[in-house]
Amino acid sequence: MKKKLLSIKELAINYSTDEEVVNAVNGVDIELSEGETLGLVGETGAGKTTTALGIMRLVPNPPGKIISGSIEFEGEDLLKVTEDKMRTIRGSKISMIFQDPMTSLNPVLTVGYQIAEVLEIHEKLSKDQAMEKAKDMLELVGIPGGRVNDFPHQFSGGMKQRVVIAIALACNPQLLIADEPTTALDVTIQAQVLDLMNDLKNKFKTSMILITHDLGVVAQVCDKVAIMYAGEIVESGSIYDIFERPKHPYTHGLFDSIPSLDSENDRLNPIKGLMPDPTNLPTGCKFHPRCPYAAEICSSRVPAVSEYNGHKYRCLVYEGLVEAPELLEEDKHGR
Ligand SMILES: Nc1ncnc2c1ncn2[C@@H]1O[C@H](COP(=O)(O)OP(=O)(O)O)[C@@H](O)[C@H]1O
Ligand SMILES: [Mg+2]
Repeated sequence: MKKKLLSIKELAINYSTDEEVVNAVNGVDIELSEGETLGLVGETGAGKTTTALGIMRLVPNPPGKIISGSIEFEGEDLLKVTEDKMRTIRGSKISMIFQDPMTSLNPVLTVGYQIAEVLEIHEKLSKDQAMEKAKDMLELVGIPGGRVNDFPHQFSGGMKQRVVIAIALACNPQLLIADEPTTALDVTIQAQVLDLMNDLKNKFKTSMILITHDLGVVAQVCDKVAIMYAGEIVESGSIYDIFERPKHPYTHGLFDSIPSLDSENDRLNPIKGLMPDPTNLPTGCKFHPRCPYAAEICSSRVPAVSEYNGHKYRCLVYEGLVEAPELLEEDKHGR
């Protein structure tokens, strides 16, 4: 059995202003063991970044606030540790690659300096030692160490992203949270960065949470997947569960909206409608207004979690309360 690293329970996070309350994260559960990579998937506005910021305890406050839940990391609730302790955990044990990483490099400092800075603070290395290790880190992400004294603008987009990864990995964190790390890159560079992340994961056994809206990216890197919708995890399981036996209508919708080479119908079938307004979420199942299978009960009853061998999904179909033979079809075959 792999050792459990992260266990998030019932995490809820709001952004609240005088006028309104945005219910960004509404009772999220996530489990991650050592060496595992979880893909956190969902449309824009689902609450993915807010969840990640919650783990780092970096939700901007105000207007953001962690309302409830627990985030156990190595057996300790991060929501209860002091800010001082959290500061040491950030960067040394958990590090995050932020969405839009191109802006997270400082344009007036050399890349070597920016990597070395992390090492000086967290690993207590001297300036010279840190600069030497910064070179190693650059090499590790496929950039010649000789470029340590170059500035960010001297690098291409893909290389800048590698530098950001080098900074995030400088202290060999146990958990790396990467928020849409390849979204801003073109497809070939994206593939290189994903290869690199795979290599690093194999080499250092780093656990990762990879946030993306792209199921193709998930397929290349992740062991587990959590599908997020309106601040909730609507389905989670192994990569096999999600890709071969998707259960939730929303997950089915996500697959139907990506092009496939071997599909018999060549029309894409995007999910109709929009993500609900997080200041005014639907009652019952939050997906019901967009769900092709929704019945009357879906607007009033909140689905419980159904589970089959660690594969979890929240949908009334699997509680036997709504008819959707198409969704249940695959159950007839062997499971
Ligand atoms: N600083 C903020 N103030 C108010 N609302 C916010 C803030 N940051 C995010 N939100 C809202 O929280 C919801 C979830 O956002 P986010 O976590 O960024 O989703 P995702 O990363 O999945 O796109 C969205 O409705 C977004 O508009
Ligand atoms: Mg985001």
